[in-house]
Amino acid sequence: MAFNFDSCPERAGTDSTKWHKYANRDVIPCWIADMDFVSPPAVVEAIQRRAAHGVFGYPAQRDEVFESIVRYMRRRHGWEIRPEWITFMSSLVPGIHGAIRCASKSGETVVTTSPAYPPFLTAPTLSERNAIKCEMVLVNGYWTFDWAKLEEACAQSASRVLLLCNPYNPLARVFKRDELERLATLAKKYDLTVCSDEIHCDLILDPQARHTVFASLNEDTASRTVTLMAASKTYNIAGLTCGFAIISDAGLRTRFRRILQGLSLDQNMFGLAATKAAFDDGEEWRLACIDYLRGNLDLIEKELKEMPGVILHQRPQSSFLAWLDVRALGFEDPHAEFEKGGVGLSNGTDFGGPGYVRINFGCPRSRLQEILNRMKRVVAKAKK
Ligand SMILES: Cc1ncc(COP(=O)(O)O)c(C=O)c1O
Repeated sequence: MAFNFDSCPERAGTDSTKWHKYANRDVIPCWIADMDFVSPPAVVEAIQRRAAHGVFGYPAQRDEVFESIVRYMRRRHGWEIRPEWITFMSSLVPGIHGAIRCASKSGETVVTTSPAYPPFLTAPTLSERNAIKCEMVLVNGYWTFDWAKLEEACAQSASRVLLLCNPYNPLARVFKRDELERLATLAKKYDLTVCSDEIHCDLILDPQARHTVFASLNEDTASRTVTLMAASKTYNIAGLTCGFAIISDAGLRTRFRRILQGLSLDQNMFGLAATKAAFDDGEEWRLACIDYLRGNLDLIEKELKEMPGVILHQRPQSSFLAWLDVRALGFEDPHAEFEKGGVGLSNGTDFGGPGYVRINFGCPRSRLQEILNRMKRVVAKAKK
């Protein structure tokens, strides 16, 4: 079946966070991480069937949706899980907080990396934990961990939790198995619980890269890991608020559920129906979407050649987000300058990366071309 990613419905005025921000302004939004594409037909049909029923009482988590996730993990990731390991949540951010709170006490330390998806930076302090932020480094053209600094942080006597974004937002890195094994060794050596956020794991753009589920590495790693996943990024259903944690260790799972009980263990019936439909019948769409995103990335790389001072240090290996180093443009507030030029990017400062912006390229190519044209005009005006 052919899918049309070139043409998307108008999103302005449709309760979209991304588009609402610039309502009535000539700014093309390419910030928050959802795509402008229509979800897979199977997802749309599942939602339509649910909506046509017309009765929207409290939802049940039926066996079918657990079985769908178990099958998907086996098929996509070669990971054998049991249905009872799964905990549904309204979304993944509460899961990050839950993982921190169930594995540490107030005043203890969470090790995280930077730049990072903003809740990775704010969740520790909101939970009254200390945070050690280790900067990611570029080695041979790839973003990776600063191993010495990371070990130093993990070795601190108050360190209890390590936050991992696998694949990594905003650097779009798909970590190699040996990098993850090195992390697993650190976690074991310093007895840390790992929160592995794998929400971006099904949009792997680099044909040479393969996603490894952190918890699947070995038994010790599984027993100390909270894996967070959702169909939301890949199949573009973030608005249906349905994510889940997979925790094999019964003790850790009980503690996690106790923390989230009454706060976020509910999700809605549309989210459950859409997750099942995406995992059961979304594969053809997923592959077509990846193909389209690769084409968008090619366009970005081509156009960046005409934007001196805008540097993509590493071609994104996953998702639909690219992290651009614009320090050489000499702007005091690059995000604001691009916004003035009609482009609504994510501000690197929010990710702990001042001087950077993040572009969301999950949109029709013609829109991306217009975004890049506008960016070129802003770049041309920079003093440098
Ligand atoms: C790494 C990561 N985790 C979690 C989320 C958000 O997940 P949710 O909408 O389920 O809270 C995002 C969204 O961009 C993300 O990039």
